[in-house]
Amino acid sequence: MIEITYWGHACIQLSDGETTLIFDPFISHNPMATIKPNQVKCDYILVSHGHFDHFGDTKALAKVNGATVIGIPEICAMADFDETHGMNLGGSYKFPFGKVKMVQAFHSGGAPGACAAGFIVEFGGKTFYFAGDTALFGDMALFAKYNIDYAFLPIGDNFTMGIDDATEAAKLIKAKNIVPIHYNTWPPIAADPTAFKTQVEKETASVVHIVKPNESIKA
Ligand code: NI
Ligand code: MN
Repeated sequence: MIEITYWGHACIQLSDGETTLIFDPFISHNPMATIKPNQVKCDYILVSHGHFDHFGDTKALAKVNGATVIGIPEICAMADFDETHGMNLGGSYKFPFGKVKMVQAFHSGGAPGACAAGFIVEFGGKTFYFAGDTALFGDMALFAKYNIDYAFLPIGDNFTMGIDDATEAAKLIKAKNIVPIHYNTWPPIAADPTAFKTQVEKETASVVHIVKPNESIKA
């Protein structure tokens, strides 16, 4: 059993009770997060790209927890920390907790030389796709072969896919479950997750779980 916790914006935490992964740990300046960075316990920090709302508290969390930072080498360099694991698009690596594949995201990298990435992670017998910040792209159809159990997709528009494009993405990815992220943090990315849920569940076989910031669901 994996506990999925949403700290708001694009910060997702996965834990099996022994190992905790956190994606895009934007905590201290995240208006949605009620937790403080020093309350976050994690073993691995997966960073999709260098924008402040994703890289967030990576440096501090890595240091305090002795966590391994996983990301594009240019992003790992930003972490300024010994325990980093650089990867690049299309590469996969078996970590003690499971396999991580770094996949493309269509978005700017947020650091010189970096590109944005997403992650497909096998953990606790389930497969998770963390899209990061991305536009819709047709090759998302290739991700269907991984039989994704949970996809975390941005729906806030302006910087990423909005609801309509995220619905198209859902049709391509064919995940069993979808959790919308990257919306309602600030006015430019205001979006109605209920409208997204209604549309996706009407047009695909995926189930959408609207997880409120600072709440968890069990996978
Ligand atoms: Ni971004
Ligand atoms: Mn963002």
